[in-house]
Amino acid sequence: MEKNPPLISASLLAANFLKLGDETQAAIDGGADWIHVDVMDGVFVPNLSIGVPIVEQLRQAFRIPLDVHLMIVRPENHIAKFIEAGATYVTVHCENNPNTNRTLQDIRSLGAKAGLSLNPGTPVEMVEPLLPFADMLLVMTVNPGFGGQKFQPEMLKKIRRIRKMVDDQGLDVRIQVDGGMNEETVAQCAAAGADVFVAGTTIFRHAAGCAEAVTRLRRAAQTAA
Ligand code: DX5
Ligand code: ZN
Repeated sequence: MEKNPPLISASLLAANFLKLGDETQAAIDGGADWIHVDVMDGVFVPNLSIGVPIVEQLRQAFRIPLDVHLMIVRPENHIAKFIEAGATYVTVHCENNPNTNRTLQDIRSLGAKAGLSLNPGTPVEMVEPLLPFADMLLVMTVNPGFGGQKFQPEMLKKIRRIRKMVDDQGLDVRIQVDGGMNEETVAQCAAAGADVFVAGTTIFRHAAGCAEAVTRLRRAAQTAA
């Protein structure tokens, strides 16, 4: 299978929420491929964030793919609303979720791309049987819930194992990484087999601005892949 070109997904969690439209436009103008929307319920993760109305308004204002990361319990109760609002990708977690197989199929049948995620403490065996039902596998490289955390280098081994599973099964599943991404960690993850890179702090709080940040991250991914 031919390699997919690396993509940069800008996580709005690190944006200035009072200027969300301008910040999103800056990321798009800066060359981001996708906008990453982190949805948290204060139960699956110890934090609350944003939800359906923001996705709806982003979709009305922008054409860029919206990459919606659901860090919530019972995601199956909410996927239809996010897809109707305009999500391009909907990613659900496999932890404590007996319905993941069904939920991934439902996401696809509702017209979106299905993402599946696993936390740093979750073994790859949890997702192996689900890979044929996913368009993207999200390897969390920090514990979900907060931006600005430090990348866990132990996750590189997990990325390599998932890359091998995907290739051995002949699947076209994107491998996304999320948490603590900077030029150095993007390069490490790209070399391990990841091809979609989520970055919040590095993009929205970069001293040289969004465009420079996205350019540098993409270059790091391309050079290392
Ligand atoms: C964490 C979120 C991430 C977060 C990454 O739970 O899933 O998308 O925004 O933030 P940075 O890039 O700052 O580590
Ligand atoms: Zn995320």
